[in-house]
Amino acid sequence: METIANTQQAQAWNGPEGAYWAGRHDRFDALNSGFDDALFSAAAIDERDHVLDIGCGTGQTTRRAARQAKSGKAVGIDISAPMLERARAVTAQEGVPNAVFEEGDAQVHLFPSAGYDVVISRGGVMFFADHVAAFTNIGRALRSGGRMALICPHMPDPEGESAQVFAPVNALVREPSPAARGMMSLSDPARVLDVLTAAGFADVTTTRVEGTVHWGRDAGDAADFFFAMSPVRFNLEGVPDQVLAQAREQVTGALRQYESADGVRLRGAVWLVTATRP
Ligand SMILES: C[S@@+](CC[C@H](N)C(=O)[O-])C[C@H]1O[C@@H](n2cnc3c(N)ncnc32)[C@H](O)[C@@H]1O
Repeated sequence: METIANTQQAQAWNGPEGAYWAGRHDRFDALNSGFDDALFSAAAIDERDHVLDIGCGTGQTTRRAARQAKSGKAVGIDISAPMLERARAVTAQEGVPNAVFEEGDAQVHLFPSAGYDVVISRGGVMFFADHVAAFTNIGRALRSGGRMALICPHMPDPEGESAQVFAPVNALVREPSPAARGMMSLSDPARVLDVLTAAGFADVTTTRVEGTVHWGRDAGDAADFFFAMSPVRFNLEGVPDQVLAQAREQVTGALRQYESADGVRLRGAVWLVTATRP
């Protein structure tokens, strides 16, 4: 049986938070896919490549990588059984046989040495207890000259659309939910450079990428999704009903100005991190 180094995260992503995400993966995919083109452009996946997707969740990016690597393959690794169960089901439904999934902790998982040409991750690398150890392990899986492309959260811009819209709730937030702990750990480019250099990577770049995030069909649908998200529910536990109702009304009202034929989209930014294996 494989070792798990990140036991707190394993517990969180195998508990109700992971199950909730897996059950609403289409909504989370809509939320997170706004920066995929930047990720895949940086990853430059060739049709023969072997691709490793770290913290692949329900596998949307693993499937896209596998479709691009049509004579190669894409392997998604994740610590969460419910996320992987959904990843496998959707992959079978969509018929992507060269996308496969492994359960494990990427910090200590026994990857084949130099077994991959490309490593990608959309928001799956922030949760490690020891980032240098984790990226050293991931780096061993990359062949010499192989490349890595990651999407990591940007610190929220206090003047940005999301901060403005969700301000009534942000004022009630106490701490990250168990699954969200570490979410901002790679939001400082200087730290990213330190971690990846210490883990043996070269040519590290961190680029701010702006895009839009799809929250829902309309303001009501977007607010329903936002208030049902586990990190939000975790923080709103115990908040009096009246305060909650008022916050919900304010958020829904603020979302209305962003309604369009394409649903509710808010501008946001992420870090695109790239590096190579010498
Ligand atoms: C924010 S979600 C992103 C999921 C997916 N990449 C996406 O974009 O939909 C983070 C994922 O990282 C996984 N994760 C957290 N810590 C991990 C670890 N140590 N090893 C492997 N996966 C991990 C979680 O289970 C979760 O599926």
